[in-house]
Amino acid sequence: MGDLSIVCLREKDIPKLLPLIRRIYPKENSIFKNDNLLLNWVIKSGNYPSAQWYAAKIKDEIVGFTRWYLYDTSEDKILLMLSWTAVKKEYESKYISTKLLNDSYLKVRSYWKKKGLNVAGVWVETDTWNIKARHFYKHFLSSIGFNVKKKIVSNLWGKEGVVFIFGVTKSFLKRQKSLHYPSSF
Ligand SMILES: CC(C)(COP(=O)(O)OP(=O)(O)OC[C@H]1O[C@@H](n2cnc3c(N)ncnc32)[C@H](O)[C@@H]1OP(=O)(O)O)[C@@H](O)C(=O)NCCC(=O)NCCS
Repeated sequence: MGDLSIVCLREKDIPKLLPLIRRIYPKENSIFKNDNLLLNWVIKSGNYPSAQWYAAKIKDEIVGFTRWYLYDTSEDKILLMLSWTAVKKEYESKYISTKLLNDSYLKVRSYWKKKGLNVAGVWVETDTWNIKARHFYKHFLSSIGFNVKKKIVSNLWGKEGVVFIFGVTKSFLKRQKSLHYPSSF
């Protein structure tokens, strides 16, 4: 994929994603019937820099996108939520999302590092039946050095439920061993 580039999107670019979001996430179409409602949700759920959208482009065509969201912070640490990752069907399994997540993660990590915040963890959720996405997220989070854990919550939406996947930095886990939680936790 010689012409593939990964670019950061700003609020004014987000409307360009709507047709793709409608195609890839048909579930949302029944709730957000008109584009303003959908756009309102997508944008109001976080503006740059708390939500950083990235797109994978081939020449001028957006073929995939993802969003890194500042979920929480404490002291010098930050927890990011990853969501809305997708590529156009015809571009699946070509490692475009792998490049999109790798490149955008490095940019987002360095953005927050300059503000004094170190990424302590990343979490993401997907439908339990979505084996490809589960494999993809687990593989990605391990490849960037995280210790990966998952938790399935049945019947959250759909019978099969949702899987929450957490990637936590190994240095954070080491420090945590010295902490004591109540046994009832
Ligand atoms: C999940 C998704 C984002 C992956 O994007 P992609 O660009 O196809 O992924 P990549 O080509 O970078 O492949 C990443 C991994 O998935 C694996 N993979 C590719 N095709 C696969 C398939 N058909 N079944 C299972 N795993 C597959 C690859 O083997 C690779 O793993 P590896 O490095 O261990 O070999 C993409 O399939 C998608 O847009 N799906 C629809 C939207 C969606 O479900 N998003 C996530 C919901 S939150």
